[in-house]
Amino acid sequence: MSVSPPSDRYAVFGNPIAHSKSPRIHAAFAEQTGQRLTYEALFAPLDGFAAAIAGFRGEGGRGANVTVPFKEQAYALSARLSARAEAAGAVNTLAFDADGIYGDNTDGVGLVNDLAGNLGLRLADKRILLMGAGGAARGVVLPLLEQGPAELFIVNRTAAKAEDLVAQASLLASRLDSGAATPARLSAGGYEALAGRHFDLVVNATAASLAGDLPPLPAGLFAEGALAYDMMYGRDTPFLARARGEGARGADGLGMLVEQAAEAFFLWRGVRPATAPVIALLRAG
Ligand code: ATR
Repeated sequence: MSVSPPSDRYAVFGNPIAHSKSPRIHAAFAEQTGQRLTYEALFAPLDGFAAAIAGFRGEGGRGANVTVPFKEQAYALSARLSARAEAAGAVNTLAFDADGIYGDNTDGVGLVNDLAGNLGLRLADKRILLMGAGGAARGVVLPLLEQGPAELFIVNRTAAKAEDLVAQASLLASRLDSGAATPARLSAGGYEALAGRHFDLVVNATAASLAGDLPPLPAGLFAEGALAYDMMYGRDTPFLARARGEGARGADGLGMLVEQAAEAFFLWRGVRPATAPVIALLRAG
């Protein structure tokens, strides 16, 4: 009688974590690709993230996703980092191997793949407005720039934070030898700087939707055929309602969630799952 080897173990760590959709997403990927693995949602105490990761590794865990509020701690914990994790200053995917902890960040590519693949938006030559300058925004600046938009404007309530983000991204882009971050292409300001301007893509990376708030966007911001993208998912937000009211197309962040998971799955297993059926599965409830 043959005994099958134990499944490889993966998990997502967060606080809170109970409502995470990641276990369902990775179970669907594993089934679809015939990979033997388990994936669970694990709660880590606010002061106990490193210990939780060490414990999981000690029990044979092969890799983990990391969500709010631990992405910066995961960055600090990583012995080696991908270029995109370094650029983001945050890690959402850990892989454990003999060389220790490897940290990656798949959020940016998740957004870009959702926009380009699922939503059919070609980002080259588009005018993009990114709202917010916190961790969520920082993770997507370089991946968006790499698509060669005509312009990326970062707007934030605290304008200085958006300006810092631009300075940081420009430095990184020059180090990566990318001509994408010229001042004409990448700039920042407060919401008052948006008056009279038009964008083809507006990405909401603020925490405003969580609180049911709408950042102070001027009327007429959305260009003809524009897409409004809210990184939040699971509920209609004031931002998406406003965008629809102005005739723009709207999308929530569910596709980005599935795409960042697919990229993590690929890192761990070397197999790329199809995302569209999993997005459809989650949309069906
Ligand atoms: P995250 O890691 O999710 O990005 P964060 O680092 O706390 O969280 O950043 C939250 C972002 O949402 C910030 O850009 C914040 O603006 P400030 O830097 O000015 O605080 C933005 N934000 C939060 N609530 C907002 C609101 N009601 N209107 C506009 N921006 C808001």
